Amino acid sequence: MEDIIISKNLSKNYNGNKAVSNLDLSIKKGEIYGLLGPNGAGKSTIILMILGLTEPSSGTINVAGFNSTREALKVKRIAGYLPEKIGFYEDMTAEQNLAYTAELNNIKYSEIPKKIEKALKIVGLVENKKQIVKQFSKGMKQRLGIADVLIKDPELVIFDEPTEGLDVKVANSILDTIIKLNKEKGITFMLSSHQLNLIQKICHRVGILSNGNLIGEGKIDELGRKLFGGGRFIIEVEISGDTKEILNKFSNLKDVIDIGKEGNVFQIICNKDLRSEISKIIANTESILTRMNIKDYALEEIYLKYFKEE
Ligand SMILES: Nc1ncnc2c1ncn2[C@@H]1O[C@H](COP(=O)(O)OP(=O)(O)O)[C@@H](O)[C@H]1O
Ligand SMILES: [Mg+2]
Repeated sequence: MEDIIISKNLSKNYNGNKAVSNLDLSIKKGEIYGLLGPNGAGKSTIILMILGLTEPSSGTINVAGFNSTREALKVKRIAGYLPEKIGFYEDMTAEQNLAYTAELNNIKYSEIPKKIEKALKIVGLVENKKQIVKQFSKGMKQRLGIADVLIKDPELVIFDEPTEGLDVKVANSILDTIIKLNKEKGITFMLSSHQLNLIQKICHRVGILSNGNLIGEGKIDELGRKLFGGGRFIIEVEISGDTKEILNKFSNLKDVIDIGKEGNVFQIICNKDLRSEISKIIANTESILTRMNIKDYALEEIYLKYFKEE
């Protein structure tokens, strides 16, 4: 698959302080990519460089083959941007705001009403089109923001902190809309966030940023295993019955690295997903398997591991 965003050795200093250091990114067409890290990690700075809204101190950044710094207008044509604080004309209606965006983007006058209707439909705001934006909740403004970027049919949408300040239900509905647009229109998304628990669910790949450095990147589950235990799984097994016999049998399994035991709960660390082997062993004894789960390396844990102090 083709890359839509490529950065090489990209850095940005503010008054001698590094906000972003030697960043190499490649984001594929059709991906939902999460740029994750605590406040001040450099997420917004990266986004501004991608969009050509701030100049790198060194390195290069390209979007769909255009140099963001030198060809910012071309990048702007391809990429929709939803900043942390989306600005609308508060005394204008939703419809008027979108019409204004359409005019700025040189959309044919005759096509504007249809485009607006379509965009509002996608984000579920058709009923509110005659309402002034001042009366909108934060979640509705985020939705309108999505409608606003859709007006210009972007290939790429960059959304800085899409769920910030929203309650979980509203946040999830925004994320569902993103998934839908990715699936149905093939739009590539880059989302920045410090709220991993919300964002991780919808990202195909994430990059974890700390003090301007990309300290880990990949698919969420792989990344977890890579950072935690070198490709390991942790399987938790609770049984009722004789644990001694079972402990011996577990120890003889190939791919088992370590076994911890607390009462009648085992924690088996292994190189492979051994759940079916484990349940077979238990089935051949007098004991009963009362619970078994495999530990999913949630991004939350990776995050806590890196950002404990924050
Ligand atoms: N315009 C600016 N002038 C000076 N320092 C800035 C500016 N923008 C960001 N910074 C600094 O750069 C670092 C990264 O900021 P930012 O990219 O906003 O992080 P994030 O979006 O991850 O919260 C922070 O230390 C911040 O204080
Ligand atoms: Mg930011």
